[in-house]
Parts: sequence; structure tokens; C-alpha cells
Amino acid sequence: MFTLLNLPYQQEALDPVISAQTLSFHHGKHLQAYVDNLNKLLPGSEFEGMSLEDIVKNAPAGAIFNNAGQILNHELYFKQFRAVSDAAHEPTGALAAQIVKQWGSLDTFKTDFESKGVSLFGSGWVWLSAEADGTLVITQEPGASNPIAKGLTPLLTFDVWEHAYYLDYQNRRAAHLTALWQIIDWQVIQRRYPSL
Ligand SMILES: [Fe+2]
Repeated sequence: MFTLLNLPYQQEALDPVISAQTLSFHHGKHLQAYVDNLNKLLPGSEFEGMSLEDIVKNAPAGAIFNNAGQILNHELYFKQFRAVSDAAHEPTGALAAQIVKQWGSLDTFKTDFESKGVSLFGSGWVWLSAEADGTLVITQEPGASNPIAKGLTPLLTFDVWEHAYYLDYQNRRAAHLTALWQIIDWQVIQRRYPSL
């Protein structure tokens, strides 16, 4: 049985970047529904007892993949945020060095990442992930997909499903993505970056 992620902050902590109302629907309704759906689908299937990661790596396209993928995606998404006043606003160490090596600056990376979020057609996720040698890569993942299915280590993600921003930003996806950097906690992202 999978259970709903406990958020590591209060419901209003991310306001005004993500309002308490958006968070209550996104976490309490959308993510809860994925958890409930997967728990109904798994009994008797070959994926019963597997981790979310193993389900996403092995399940064919379909309801089990979609619900497991969305739980995994949202857990990584919600856990990367902190209140503006609590978030570490810049990476340090090996991750910071790798970003500068590949993009020249953190700001250039952010612009590239946002533009790939804006240009993703329809519902999905934009991800920063690491290859086995530490090289960073930005991917656009449609629907419930997660970069672990490509052998990558997922580090950072923006949810571009409309349910993530429509109550607060309506159709202004780009404005929402730009605002999200204020609540990204780079300490969380760094902990996901594999040490070589
Ligand atoms: Fe979402």
C-alpha cells in the first residue's frame, strides 16, 4: 500500500508562489487520487510489492505506469520546495560547478530550463537529471513519464500540468515557472546529485 506524502512544510508556506489553495488541491486531491488509484490497481498484478521506481522502469504504458509515475513525480516535486525564507537559493559544490561548466551560469541554466517547460506541449514535466558520469541533462517528459526510465537520476522538476498553476496563474505558465525558483531548495537538489 502506498500512502500520501507528508509535506515537509505547512500548506501556506509556499504562498504566494504556490497558494495554499493550489497546494490543497494538488497534494490533497490530485496526488491522493493517484495513490488511491494505484492501490486499487496493484493487487494481483505482477507489480504488487515493487517500489515506485521499479514500477516506472518496468510497467508498460497504461494505468499502473501512469499512477505510479505521477506519485513518483509529485513526491520529487513537492519535496524540493521550501518557504522563500527557508530555501537555499543557489547550488554549491559539485552541482554548482557542473551547471557552470555546461551552461556558463546559473541564470542561463534557469532560462534554458524554463523555456523547455514553456515549450512542452500539453501536460507533463520538465526535468534536470544526471547521467552516470555526473553530466546534467534537461528532458521534457510527457504525461506521467520520469527520467529514471531512461537510466537518468532525477534531480529537479517543474510540473507543467495545468492543475499545478491554473488557480494562481491561469494560462500564464511561463510566469509560474519563473516564480518557482524562489521556493526551490537547492540543498534538496544537491542531495539527489550522485557523488562520483
Ligand atoms: Fe501535478
